[in-house]
Amino acid sequence: MKIKHLFLLWALFLMSGCADDMSLKSPSGDITVDFSVDMDGIPHYQVSAYGQDVIEESSLGLEAAETELAYGFNVKKVTRSKVDQEWTQPWGENKLMRDRHNEMAVLMENDRGVSLTMRFRAFDDGIGYRYEYDASAADVQDGEALDSLTITGDNTYFTLAQDGTCWSIGSYFSGYELPYREQAISATENANTPFTFRMEDLYGSIHEAALYDFPEMNIYRQDSLDFKSELAPRPDGSLARVGARFTTPWRTLQIAKDAVGLINSSLILNLNEPCVLEDVSWIKPQKYVGVWWGMHLGTQVWTMGPRHGATTENAIRHIDFAAANNIQGVLFEGWNKGWENWGGSQHFDYCEPYEDFDLERIAAYAAEKGVSLWMHNETGGSIFEYEREMEKAFAKYQSLGIHYLKTGYAGGMPNYIRHHSQRGVQHYQKVVETAAEYEIAIDAHEPIKETGIRRTWPNMMTREGARGMEWNAWSEGNSSEHLCVLPYTRLLSGPMDYTPGVFDIYYKTACATPGREEWNGDNSQTYIKTTIARQIANWVLIYSPLQMACDLIENYEGHPAFQFFRDFDADCDWSEALAGEIGDYIVIARRAGEKFFLGAGTDSEPRAVTVPLDFLEPGVTYEAVIYADDLDAPVVTQPDGTKAPDKTCYRIEKIKVTSSDTLTIEMAADGGQAVSFIPVE
Ligand code: NOJ
Ligand code: CA
Repeated sequence: MKIKHLFLLWALFLMSGCADDMSLKSPSGDITVDFSVDMDGIPHYQVSAYGQDVIEESSLGLEAAETELAYGFNVKKVTRSKVDQEWTQPWGENKLMRDRHNEMAVLMENDRGVSLTMRFRAFDDGIGYRYEYDASAADVQDGEALDSLTITGDNTYFTLAQDGTCWSIGSYFSGYELPYREQAISATENANTPFTFRMEDLYGSIHEAALYDFPEMNIYRQDSLDFKSELAPRPDGSLARVGARFTTPWRTLQIAKDAVGLINSSLILNLNEPCVLEDVSWIKPQKYVGVWWGMHLGTQVWTMGPRHGATTENAIRHIDFAAANNIQGVLFEGWNKGWENWGGSQHFDYCEPYEDFDLERIAAYAAEKGVSLWMHNETGGSIFEYEREMEKAFAKYQSLGIHYLKTGYAGGMPNYIRHHSQRGVQHYQKVVETAAEYEIAIDAHEPIKETGIRRTWPNMMTREGARGMEWNAWSEGNSSEHLCVLPYTRLLSGPMDYTPGVFDIYYKTACATPGREEWNGDNSQTYIKTTIARQIANWVLIYSPLQMACDLIENYEGHPAFQFFRDFDADCDWSEALAGEIGDYIVIARRAGEKFFLGAGTDSEPRAVTVPLDFLEPGVTYEAVIYADDLDAPVVTQPDGTKAPDKTCYRIEKIKVTSSDTLTIEMAADGGQAVSFIPVE
């Protein structure tokens, strides 16, 4: 045999040896990732689960202006490791977590001297992988060492193995407040993530974990079922500026055999780094009310004048209400100067209150009553201005004992910066890190999407990032189906400040915009598209460690069903999604201390779901207080002319239960049910 042939045989042996070695299984063996490098030196991966292909062979790699990041790679080394460890978090759906995964890191080098480690982790609830590039020793034309790169392309593909149904919002790099679409995977042109799908007996969701200093990923269909990553661009069309050594966020694929398995997955948090804050004692999950809904309805305004919402008198009234109702926080919007020019040549003052809002007195009164005062900083998108001024504001809030801050970015960012671009991501992170120095926890509206950074930065507590309650005040509103899609899509990424809980289901709205003065008490009649029991259930279903009862406090005063929120505890210890199908229904149970709470919701179909109560502590008798739809509610004409049962009708029932009982949850169309389980002495 000629030397040349011997070499070929040896090379083939090496290649097949590598192929065998470059497969990674999850600890249970149910999920497998296979890695390979093709003849052009382009890395590929494929994923199967429970004997079924999920991602067919799909290519990997980035592109840069300065050197070759995509082609010519040879495998140098494959390193493997295993992890099985428990960790805890100060707050979350579950405080006790388990990280159990197998890891494979494939080190490669290309002919330009660029090294790339593809790091894969396989969990029993899905996989994650990321790029770790080192181009610092790359050979470049002028011989100078590279110290930074301009990323110009992302060739990460997700070639789904079969068609099926998917739920997502369309790709958009400056906001997430779009209606969810249910459609065939093959009919989806592009999507933001989490991108959730069902194929045959499997459910999956594509997202990212640990998004720092990099643009967010959307996916665009190229052909058939072949999706390619698209990163939110910089104003000049390039994608990112990075150091010559850089690591991308994890690209994630959650996989489950049933729809609720996606919700019960902890993949995203497990792919984030442990907490970096030494003292987290000031970060406390809590319930809150606020001067908020009135402004969206138009009965109040953000600016000073006869209908100003954030006045000292109104503040005291809200603090008294919170203190009397076991509610820990009160939010004030429109307390600071600058709202007159929101949307125009805007400039907000983050320190100076309006003359009719006595901040010092209000802070002292809140402290006396044991209520947390929440500040609000609407930036209108002016990120440069906010970065200049936030530290001064945070120092002031800290001096007043204020630990909670809602931020807002309702408006375009300057210089054509997209909210979700690398610069946007850097901004949101800078706020989180600066706030941590001043012991301030953040609730971000118009945020960057959650990718599990709350594990590392637990002061990043909650965020909006989807169509929340406010859309009911100025659009056709959110359907009960939207509320049945959120838990399987947006909420897979992390907590949401949806601001649930409107009790005054049939209300008038002026389609408020700041400063608008034309409220005359006779504006258009509209309604929340769910029953009141569903509004209550949403406090359990839409997880947020900062959970708002958003209605005007006068609508809660004396309302028997408000007892649920009084009893509710936002400081959750354990959670489990018990039953559901995407877009159809959802049932979730949570424990906080000794109490358990259950929430259930359906779409426009009435539904009965039976669940065992075996999540309750064995041997303990609980009083279950059931807040249910009244299935005998009279049919009335709704504000849009349709006829449907009166959505304000509900019933409250109290029964004794133990963990060996089952509960049949009967829900009206657009309805739901909430149950509190309180141990009987
Ligand atoms: C949009 C936010 O989502 C909402 O909560 C806030 O009240 C307004 N912007 C004003 O900042
Ligand atoms: Ca918003």
